[in-house]
Parts: sequence; C-alpha cells; structure tokens
Amino acid sequence: MSDNAKIKIGNKEFDFPIKKGSVGPSVIDVSKLYFKTDHFTLDPGFTSTGSCESSITYIDGDKGQCYYRGYPMDTLAEKSNFLEIAYLLWYGELPTKIEWDEFSNAIKNHTMVHEQIRVFFNGFRRGAHPMAIMVACVAALSAFYPDSINIKDPEQRRISARRMVAKIPTLAAMAFKYSLGQPFVYPDNTLDYSENFMQMCFAVPAEKYKINKVFAKALDKIFILHADHEQNASTSTVRLAASSGANPFASISTGFTSLWGPSHGGANEAALNMLKEIGDVKNIPQYIKKAKDKTDPFKLMGFGHRVYKNYDPRAKVMQRTCHDVLNEIGNTDNKLLQVAKELEKIALNDEYFIEKKLYPNIDFYSGITLSAMGFPTAMFTVIFGLARTVGWLAHWKEMMIGNKMKIGRPRQLYTGPNPREFKELSKR
Ligand code: CMC
Repeated sequence: MSDNAKIKIGNKEFDFPIKKGSVGPSVIDVSKLYFKTDHFTLDPGFTSTGSCESSITYIDGDKGQCYYRGYPMDTLAEKSNFLEIAYLLWYGELPTKIEWDEFSNAIKNHTMVHEQIRVFFNGFRRGAHPMAIMVACVAALSAFYPDSINIKDPEQRRISARRMVAKIPTLAAMAFKYSLGQPFVYPDNTLDYSENFMQMCFAVPAEKYKINKVFAKALDKIFILHADHEQNASTSTVRLAASSGANPFASISTGFTSLWGPSHGGANEAALNMLKEIGDVKNIPQYIKKAKDKTDPFKLMGFGHRVYKNYDPRAKVMQRTCHDVLNEIGNTDNKLLQVAKELEKIALNDEYFIEKKLYPNIDFYSGITLSAMGFPTAMFTVIFGLARTVGWLAHWKEMMIGNKMKIGRPRQLYTGPNPREFKELSKR
C-alpha cells in the first residue's frame, strides 16, 4: 500500500505523505500543500482535519470507546480516582506509590488561593454566572502567581499546572458560595479531592458538615469522565491560545470560555433545563417532533456527538452513577429520570436518530445526577471545567515539550469585496 496520497490540480499531480498513528485513522500530511500547490484546504468545523499529533486520549467513535493513555476510561472510572487520572494524563503513566504520595500531597498543599482573590470576588454581581467568574479568576491567577508563568521553564510549567489542579476547585466552590451569599469555606487538606470540593461547596460555619461518601465517589467518577476528550473545542482553544506563548493561566482560562457554550460543556445545563421543560413523559413526542423539524432550531440536548457514532461510553457510566446517587437519596422514582429514560428509549428507536447515529452523550444524565447531589444548574459546566482542566493541562504540556510548536494560524477562503478605492465621506 502506498504511503503517499496524490492530489491532482489541473494536470499536475502532487504527493503528500500518509502518516499512521498507533491506532485509528491515518492522516494525509498536507502541511506542505500551500508551498507545493498555492492552495489551502477548507474544512470549517474541522470535520476532517487533525490539528496536532497527540498521545493522550484516543476515542473510537464507532465502537463508542475512549482511552486515557491507553487505558479504557470506563475501567478507570470504576477502579481509579480523579487525582490519579490527573497524574496519568500529565505524566503518561499511572503513578507508583512513591509518585502518588508526592503528587497527591503536593496538590493537597496548594489548595488555598491568595487572600487577595477574596477581595477580587467582591467586584462581581451576586447573580453572576459562575462560569463568568471562572473565566476571569483562572486568567487572574497569572497576576497572583507571576513566578510560574515562564512557559520555557519545565519547573515553572509543573508548578503552574499543579497550582491550577489544586486551586481551581477552590475557585469553583468560591463562585458557588458567592452566588448563595454564604461565606467562603477554606479547603481542608485532610480530605480527598472530591470530598474537599463538596465540603467547600456545601459546608456552612453554623453546622458540622458530614460528607456523603456515595456522593463524593459519584463526583469523583464525574470528574474522571470529564477529564479529557482529545481535540474538542475547548482543548483546541487552549492549544491555539497557548500556541502564541500566552502564559499557562491565561491559556487555561480560554478552555473555560469555550466550554461554556451549549454545544459543548454548557449542554449539561441545557439538557437538564430541557428535561424540566418537557416535564412529563406524555410531552415527549412533541419534543421529538421539534428536534426533527429542520425549521425549528430545537435540538435534543445531551444527544449527538461529533466523534461518537455509537453510545457515548461516558453516558453509560454516568447513567449508573445517576442511579447510585438517586438510590442514596431514596428518589428512585425521580420524575426527570423517568422523562430522560423514556426520551432515550423513544429516540433510540426513531428512524431520524438511528439514521444520523444520534445517541445520548455524557451530558444527558450528568445534570440529573449533579442536581440530585445539590448543585444548581449554573454549576454544572463549572464542574465539567474543573475536571477538564487536567486534560487541558496535559495537552498544553504536550504542545510545550513537542518540537513542532508553531503558532496556530488557520487560513481562509476570502469571499469579500475585491480591493477598491477609498472615497472621502463627502463623495459617498
Ligand atoms: N437533536 C436533533 N438533531 C440533531 C442533534 C440533536 N441533539 N444533534 C445533531 N442533529 C442532527 C443535525 O441537525 C444534523 O442534521 P442534518 O444532517 O439533517 O443537517 C445531523 O444530526 C448532524 O449534526 P451536526 O450538528 O452536523 O453534527 P456536529 O458533529 O456538528 O454536532 C453536536 C455535534 C454535539 C454539537 C450536536 O450533536 C449537538 O448540538 N447536540 C446537542 C448539544 C449537546 O448535547 N452537546 C454536548 C456534546 S458532548 C459533551 C462535550 O463534549 O462537550
């Protein structure tokens, strides 16, 4: 089999190398296309375009499987814990006992944020969306920790990454507390990562807070399921922002910006709102009809995925986690879960959804689960971003240490006016 692809333009033929990955589809390396042919490729939405080489996450969209550094993500969700996944994504291997002790202690010892950040919060309206606060506060970390923004220094890169893994949950919990008008709760470094986050979100000074172990375990799984997903919109945004040499905190904040949109991380919030709007199984047919109507912008939120053309493996784990949480609160006949299950059943048997290979994605069940644990919808995307931070950081590091780091600079097909002459206002 040839290792080259041929492109014919007019009567000239050009060869381009085909590169094979360790698994998954090969790519045609068109980086010399413009140099050789004076043409660019056009691929809005990057439906056929790879933007980088990466050895972090592999998604088999047809089989509905996802692997972090070669390990099936659903196995990791059952058997590992989120901090271990953070280590795996960053270093490429699971930690030994000594490595684990060093890493987990380091994260636990960086959970506090600079006291001045508390003052910073006062500038926000109480009703501000916590994602708006996250975008601002994560970028603002570069103002507080200027000693770890030199991207060329591996040690500073390591410190800034650990600072973000440790401090972003603290910022997220502060955003939540601020919206409630409750005092911020300081981190407790004796607790596990997820337990600490729950305590910072739900404890109040007036009462002793008892951590629900089932909820903490479920939350840890939710973090693992969201930890990475190869070159999605927010990860690609982080890579593009960082490709200019922007500092790590500023670069990761762009991940939050991109994640916020309803087609991406904002879908969990949108999915729960949709289930509430549907309200009752009897209303489902009318919403299925709307979703199929090309003149109606309505989409079934929590359905469909650019890469998965099979059931999203994250949705399967999420569905089980949802049951664990609802069992724990004794709410097994949860109305929203009934609507979700029935909606899923009807959609999976509907010709439109079958033909377009639209299956439930991770966001379909995550909203019901988080809501049952006591999180308001506005916090769902924040929790997604908190978890995805470890993936963004791994991609950022991969780009920094690679020898092919180049500023991202896509080209375009220009369709505007041809060059023309400027006329003074009086002559127009
Ligand atoms: N409901 C109804 N129709 C849909 C849906 C849906 N949820 N998703 C896609 N379609 C249709 C779409 O209208 C299009 O139809 P046609 O070919 O007739 O024009 C076809 O299916 C292909 O969809 P697309 O929008 O071209 O596919 P995409 O790969 O560009 O978009 C998506 C993927 C996830 C943005 C989209 O499926 C969607 O908007 N889903 C709802 C939002 C959502 O749940 N997002 C979370 C994604 S998973 C979490 C994450 O990674 O952030």
